[in-house]
Amino acid sequence: MNEPLNPPDLPNPTSQEDAPRWTPLCASSDVAENRARAATLDGKQLVVWRDGEGGIHVWDDRCPHRGETLSDGVVAGGLIACASHGWRFDVNGQQIRLINSTQSARCDAKIHATVHDAHERNGYVWVRVPLARAAVVKDARASAASHHECA
Ligand code: FES
Repeated sequence: MNEPLNPPDLPNPTSQEDAPRWTPLCASSDVAENRARAATLDGKQLVVWRDGEGGIHVWDDRCPHRGETLSDGVVAGGLIACASHGWRFDVNGQQIRLINSTQSARCDAKIHATVHDAHERNGYVWVRVPLARAAVVKDARASAASHHECA
């Protein structure tokens, strides 16, 4: 990659040492439009997917229905559909029911995928994920140089 690796100009919400920080997850080019891929960040299983308008999304790779991986799902019409039983989720993680090909309706508002803050900068997908252990990346430049590969 020829672009310089600079820490993103994305604000961190707090100066607390153990607060989630922006971390490079994978190269933007690893995630094609209307595709979902698995990724890991310090042992945490994530799905990174790109909607049809180019928007990038990073969620826990776990369907709220029965816990299957969303990274095996299908992306279409701005929704990601779980491959197991077909539950669909909009870009906010809300479960959606298709009424017909042009209409959709929200399902129970409590049924939500776990969504993380994600942005693209300098050719990378950056994510802010609370990690199980304190894995704060203090030097984004060093971390970007050894970015995590999407599966
Ligand atoms: S596990 Fe995802 S729809 Fe059932």
